Amino acid sequence: MDAILSDWLLERLDTDAPEPAYRQLFRLLQQAILSGRLAAGAKLPSSRTLGADLAIARNTVIQVYEQLLVEGYVETQSGSGTYVADTSPDRVDEGSAGAPRRAVRDRHRLSARGKRTIELSGVSKQQWGAFMPGVPDVTEFPLKAWTRLQSRIWRNPKPELMTYAPGGGYRPLRRALADHLRVARSANCQPEQIVITTGIHQSVDLAVRLLCDVGDQVWIEEPCYWGLRGILLSSGLKLTPIPVDGEGINPDAKHLARPPRLIICTPSHQYPLGMVMSLARRRMLLEYARQHNCWIIEDDYDSEFRFGIRPLASLQGLDTNGQVIYLSSFSKTLFPGMRVGYMAVPAPLADLFSLGLAELYREGQLMQQAVLAEFIDEGYLNSHIRRMRGLYAERRSLLIAAVQRRFGDALPVMGDEAGLHLVLGLPHLRDDWAVCRTAMERGIIARPLSAYYSVAKAAQVGLLLGYGCVPNEKIGPAFDTLADVIEEVSKAGRKTRRSVA
Ligand SMILES: Cc1ncc(COP(=O)(O)O)c(C=O)c1O
Repeated sequence: MDAILSDWLLERLDTDAPEPAYRQLFRLLQQAILSGRLAAGAKLPSSRTLGADLAIARNTVIQVYEQLLVEGYVETQSGSGTYVADTSPDRVDEGSAGAPRRAVRDRHRLSARGKRTIELSGVSKQQWGAFMPGVPDVTEFPLKAWTRLQSRIWRNPKPELMTYAPGGGYRPLRRALADHLRVARSANCQPEQIVITTGIHQSVDLAVRLLCDVGDQVWIEEPCYWGLRGILLSSGLKLTPIPVDGEGINPDAKHLARPPRLIICTPSHQYPLGMVMSLARRRMLLEYARQHNCWIIEDDYDSEFRFGIRPLASLQGLDTNGQVIYLSSFSKTLFPGMRVGYMAVPAPLADLFSLGLAELYREGQLMQQAVLAEFIDEGYLNSHIRRMRGLYAERRSLLIAAVQRRFGDALPVMGDEAGLHLVLGLPHLRDDWAVCRTAMERGIIARPLSAYYSVAKAAQVGLLLGYGCVPNEKIGPAFDTLADVIEEVSKAGRKTRRSVA
């Protein structure tokens, strides 16, 4: 319990934040108690243990415990320690005098799927810096061109661009995206099939709400993007993790015997391991989906950044039966905070998806969509992608060189032919979380590869390292800091194993 609590707190405490450690720790413990994460009666770690685990002064922990005591969140028992108090609200008398106290308390707690969503959450409290995966270099965004187009549109805004969006989004942007997809991804699509969303997260949410019922089975890749799991679980779907091999998602006979409602995959660049789905595997998947009437969601999150290898056409472009829902996003090509993505849906679903989008989310942002349409039409998107591809290729080489300088070929580098991150295998370690925690204390973000697996015993150990948002000159020094951590954790691991033996 102590270790779990310490890990949870460590992931959230930010020693660089302006908010003092005392306030942060108080707020986090308060939140843990109110949300039920720390149940009534649970014993808190001693101030000495918690201080040491969090690398903060023991006095800070004592001060926080005292404040929690004053405010009624904890109780002390002399000589025995500090315990979480029962903070459930007083019962409101609704004529159910005999109703158990717990039932009242439960109304204030999360739903089962809400709890699972929060428990499995993978979002990092820091979203910028070496080696944050999946984040592009937003400082390179062509601001001048964007501002010029934006001023033009804002100088004389049309009222219809300032109201809610009609289903599907701004028509000229849908046309520009359909043209782009046909050329860049060999997709088969017309502007009516394009639905503009706030990103892949929303696109997946919309697709599962419209196509799946609670309890439906969904195949996800093993490992896969953590964000998908949250969306699917919170929609009450049953996830079947399907292992990937060198050719992408690889269902075995047992899986094939139980067709899912939906298959979600990353054919252009498996996330996070980086392989490209082979043509044979693509054809197998399409044929299987056709025979069993399954939908396939193609998450094409970063196919624009490919180094030395030619992109395969999209899976959607091979689909002759209208079963693929193609998703893309501007989070990697422009900047994630823009929150614009789009889907290309099979023609018979197009109007339904546009309507569903407007109905569920009451979309807007048409002014931004108008700017984006002009940005694409005037060629800025393509030239920005071309320029960034060169920059990312350089950063990728610098990171690989830094890995080789420190470790030679001892640590495998995977998935480095495309995208904004690579995977550094740590086959000699058992705990990639330990590396990430210590690295975070030294200002380096690395995500543990094992966290992307749904089945713990299948998990490979390693690190996801994003190079997209790291300036060239910082890559070597930042990797050296990380390499020190890897070596320290490796040594500590060896000692622990020896002492256990
Ligand atoms: C595989 C994958 N899909 C989807 C997303 C999220 O896309 P968006 O920002 O468009 O919601 C990410 C973000 O890193 C990702 O890695």
